[in-house]
Amino acid sequence: MKRSISFVVVCASMMLASGSAWALKGNATAGKEKSALCHGCHGENGMSVAPNFPNLAGQFSGYIKKQIRDFQAGKRNDDTMSAMAATVTEAQDLEDIAAYFMSQNTMKGTTAKSAKADKGKTLFMEGNLDKGVYGCKNCHGENGKGKSAENPLFPVIAGQNKDYLVKQLMDLKEGRRTNDPAGMMGDIAKGLSAEDIDNLTDYLSGL
Ligand code: HEC
Ligand code: HEC
Repeated sequence: MKRSISFVVVCASMMLASGSAWALKGNATAGKEKSALCHGCHGENGMSVAPNFPNLAGQFSGYIKKQIRDFQAGKRNDDTMSAMAATVTEAQDLEDIAAYFMSQNTMKGTTAKSAKADKGKTLFMEGNLDKGVYGCKNCHGENGKGKSAENPLFPVIAGQNKDYLVKQLMDLKEGRRTNDPAGMMGDIAKGLSAEDIDNLTDYLSGL
């Protein structure tokens, strides 16, 4: 079981990494002002202004911080967002900005229910073990809202924008996004067809 061993190593190293940051605490009130630049795309309340920008409202601060650090380190790449992440140079600012977005009402979807979404729900719940796809609910939670702020490894994905979700799943599937711990999300995305991704994202973006 190579995957489960590397998974344990990743969890242990993430706990160590977050241990060093325990001295800093996020202040959501300060984060509102500090995130003014971000509001132009991600919205003042964390609900983004266009479907290719992800919602950050209610996203776990630990996940937000990891993504910003990954963009800064070149582990995740996007022309626009890599440049934005580079502007957050102070560790305390990152804490405050992440705390602010997490404190907003959790993202909510807008897509209408559809037959595609019903198929997506089945895949979300049950997975497709023939293709190595575990049910998404096992990691992202029964309702796609992740686990808890204390376990921010697994992001909130329910209520996220469809266009953004499709791009991430395609990037993970085709190896353009490789910052997922132990490659666990990439392995799953590789087992998804374009049709699966269409169905799943109809479901998720409607929650
Ligand atoms: C000009 C538009 C723009 C601005 C301004 C912007 N972002 Fe982004 N952001 C993006 C785009 C586009 C993506 C998606 C990148 C991709 O496709 O991988 C993104 C992704 C992210 C993600 C990853 C979300 C996820 O669910 O994985 C985080 C976190 C984030 N931005 C935080 C910020 C913060 C904090 C700021 C302010 C310092 C900011 N962004 C400013 C456009 C922007
Ligand atoms: C074994 C655990 C696991 C399973 C099962 C899993 N994921 Fe993930 N997923 C993750 C992890 C961990 C991340 C965060 C990667 C990172 O830190 O960059 C993630 C990230 C994502 C993202 C990117 C979110 C963002 O905001 O950018 C999407 C979309 C996603 N998963 C969708 C799914 C879907 C759809 C399924 C089911 C087909 C699924 N996941 C099943 C662990 C899992």
